[in-house]
Amino acid sequence: MPDANSPSAAPNPHLAPYQARGLKGRILSGVQPTGNLHLGNYLGAIRNFARLQSDYECLYCVVDMHAITVWQDPKELGAQTREIAAAFLAAGVDGAKNAIFSQSAVPEHAQLAWIFNCVARVGWMNRMTQFKEKAGKDRENASLGLYAYPALMAADILIYKATHVPVGEDQKQHLELTRDIAIKFNNDYNAPDFFPVTEPLIFGAATRVMSLRDGTKKMSKSDPSDYSRINLTDDADAIAQKIRRAKTDPHPMPETAADAEKRPDADNLLGIYAALADRAKDEVIREFAGKQFSEFKAALTELAVAKLGPIGAEMQRLMKDPGHVDSVLRAGAEKARTVAGPILADVYKTVGFLKP
Ligand code: TYM
Repeated sequence: MPDANSPSAAPNPHLAPYQARGLKGRILSGVQPTGNLHLGNYLGAIRNFARLQSDYECLYCVVDMHAITVWQDPKELGAQTREIAAAFLAAGVDGAKNAIFSQSAVPEHAQLAWIFNCVARVGWMNRMTQFKEKAGKDRENASLGLYAYPALMAADILIYKATHVPVGEDQKQHLELTRDIAIKFNNDYNAPDFFPVTEPLIFGAATRVMSLRDGTKKMSKSDPSDYSRINLTDDADAIAQKIRRAKTDPHPMPETAADAEKRPDADNLLGIYAALADRAKDEVIREFAGKQFSEFKAALTELAVAKLGPIGAEMQRLMKDPGHVDSVLRAGAEKARTVAGPILADVYKTVGFLKP
């Protein structure tokens, strides 16, 4: 994403302390506890969280305050929050080395978000496609929180002065807004380089996993059809059934990448296969070129069950041990607050808030 004209092409003073420790920077990322954690969340984000943990200082957050921008049953939210933390752990994130925590346990996120509400412009927020999609036609009835959502997301990142953010493709616009907020804050308060201009880390063969029922629509937690997604807690039978039923077209498997691109359902399944197998998509296209979908789907099922089965099983095990998950979340929040507290104090000073 950064190019020669981007502000991040200049030497980044925020990286120096990490480089001195042999690290590339500091990561913050978040996942909403809104149920139905799926293959898109895993391949686009959570799997990468684990892969980045030896190169960066990492903070991974379950964003419960973002979740309530649309109605959440208070009786379910706690369990859903634990489930996301369990998914981080099951995917291989080391809870002792990194901070795994819930957003509401670190009040500095909300405190910085208010300041960012005053930095971000209404015109910027009006361009956010996620708000338009989520609010739908009845925009008047959407919560104010849903509208302000991206300013809170910027605060999640910048309260730690995070330099890098691993996410799926769909979060790109929110990260561009985070960069705009950082740049405007630094300019408005004459505090050059106070906040870093954060780099998104969007990588892998499946940065945008599509619905199994419609290759032109993103795989999503809120799709009413459970057949549209593979959930991380699905067992082998459910995975097999969903892949068998996944939409395809009447032709044999694509012969080339250009052919695949014109056939979104096939392209999506090929991307999923490549990501799960950790292979280049072109190589997978060559392997299955001209074969029947039934043969490919059998191979995909075997691969998905082998890769996702152990993660689902570990999540189930962890969800039966809420005491352990809570202890990881508590320690994570404590660690996160030691980073966020001094940064918020600096922000308050910069803004001119009196500390009587
Ligand atoms: P959320 O909870 O919708 O999704 C969590 C992560 O999963 C990625 N993702 C996908 N990747 C590939 N294909 C898909 N179909 C797919 N669906 C979801 C998302 O890109 C995300 O990385 N706004 C964020 C949560 C958030 C956040 C943050 C992220 C709040 N604060 C700060 C990073 C940094 C969201 O709604 O993600």
